[in-house]
Amino acid sequence: MRSTRRRVAMLATLVSVLACSPAGEPPTGRATSTPSAAAAGAAEGVGAAGIGDPDFPGDGNGGYDVSHYDLVVGYTPATKRLDGVATISAAATHDLTSFNLDLSGLDVREVTVDGVPATFGRKGDELTVRPAEPIGDDSDFTVKVTYSGMPKPAQDHANLGTYGFIPTSDGAFVASEPNGSKTWFPGNDHPSDKATFDFTITVPAGLTALANGERVGEPTTSGGRTTYRWRERHPMATYLATATLGKFELREGATPGGIPNLAAADPKYKDSLDSLHRISGEATDYWATVFGPYPFSSTGGIVDDYSAGYALENQTKPLYGGFQPDEMIIAHELAHQWFGNSLTIRRWKDLWLNEGFATYAEWLWSERKGKKSAAAHFKEAHARPASDPIWKYPPGRAKPDDLFNASVYTRGGMTLHALRQAIGDATFFRLLKTWTSEHRYGHVTTEQFIDLAERLSGKSLDALFDAWLFQPRRPA
Ligand code: ARG
Ligand code: ZN
Repeated sequence: MRSTRRRVAMLATLVSVLACSPAGEPPTGRATSTPSAAAAGAAEGVGAAGIGDPDFPGDGNGGYDVSHYDLVVGYTPATKRLDGVATISAAATHDLTSFNLDLSGLDVREVTVDGVPATFGRKGDELTVRPAEPIGDDSDFTVKVTYSGMPKPAQDHANLGTYGFIPTSDGAFVASEPNGSKTWFPGNDHPSDKATFDFTITVPAGLTALANGERVGEPTTSGGRTTYRWRERHPMATYLATATLGKFELREGATPGGIPNLAAADPKYKDSLDSLHRISGEATDYWATVFGPYPFSSTGGIVDDYSAGYALENQTKPLYGGFQPDEMIIAHELAHQWFGNSLTIRRWKDLWLNEGFATYAEWLWSERKGKKSAAAHFKEAHARPASDPIWKYPPGRAKPDDLFNASVYTRGGMTLHALRQAIGDATFFRLLKTWTSEHRYGHVTTEQFIDLAERLSGKSLDALFDAWLFQPRRPA
């Protein structure tokens, strides 16, 4: 999805194209998948193999911006085979003789661009597409990829555990943060390019397919297979897309405030279905009073029988991996619907804007429930000895090889409490609501948050944010 900032970047690219190509010579390009060569090639009409996140140079792609993914996926647990057709609507941000999609494993049978067969090549996790005709700057195009194979989840890379499309005994557990959506569909796999999604998922009859957003029509069964359709009509980062499949018990309804609410649990966790449904509804409604209107059209959650060792805030349907979620983690994942999902980071280094906020939300939830107050949570964490690892790791700069470090969560949450103490409750809670409303469905950076905090409080907060977010030591 495009933003004004990208339009400015687009103009800059145009200027550099004009500056670099001799007059009258049409741009030529060669497919390449090394980021530096690709970046240099951008002026010649080659879409870069990375979107420009220096910590994850191969993630995402340059040269275009996706507005919509239409994903048609069939999956058979017995053979672990996935058949997919991804139809991606995008707009070029400069002239393109070729461009890349991220795709890990799986076999590509055919690629078309605007209905015309295109040539393509694979190298690592990059799928390079060369359309029959170059795509002009600023023009809309549709790329359709037909693919299949046994998805291979991303494994134990940089302390992340297993993520992406993970086969289970009865289906699949699909949690893709940070860059695992490429294990099950081709796309622009980086949070700085959000898009809307349609899902058409076919599984053996008797299984349920769950994806983001709301169901479109009733499931249809024929020839022993059932097709489910889901639509997420609000912009979504690729890492939040899910197609979690298997045997599920469902509990449907609405939150007390009237937001459609769907809880699903693997039969092994059916005892947690009621509490998941109830607490998810309660937390969604409560956060709307604290953070501003709920950004999406439905809420809920899924508990699956796969011991991921984590939960993920998949848009509208957080996914809990192999445990009965308690109310703290439900409150955490639902706070992410505002912080991470509606307001999305442009670069992974700013991850505390997701995890610090969701951790602070847990503390607010605990206080609301008459348990430990946010101030007590802060005090207890602040009392950790100077040797505790969270003091060495500045949370304002998440490290690519240790993205989800405890500091990003706990010290990130403490940063918000320190800020609250400095600017007072009234300004702090006004700040949270202003932050979510000014950037609803958009992208955010740490600098923007600091600027807004200073603007609303009228205070200089550089020293506070520097000590809490950027110094490798325990703040006083
Ligand atoms: N965002 C998730 C949470 O805090 C954590 C995801 C961790 N991802 C992973 N591949 N380990 O709720
Ligand atoms: Zn989180």
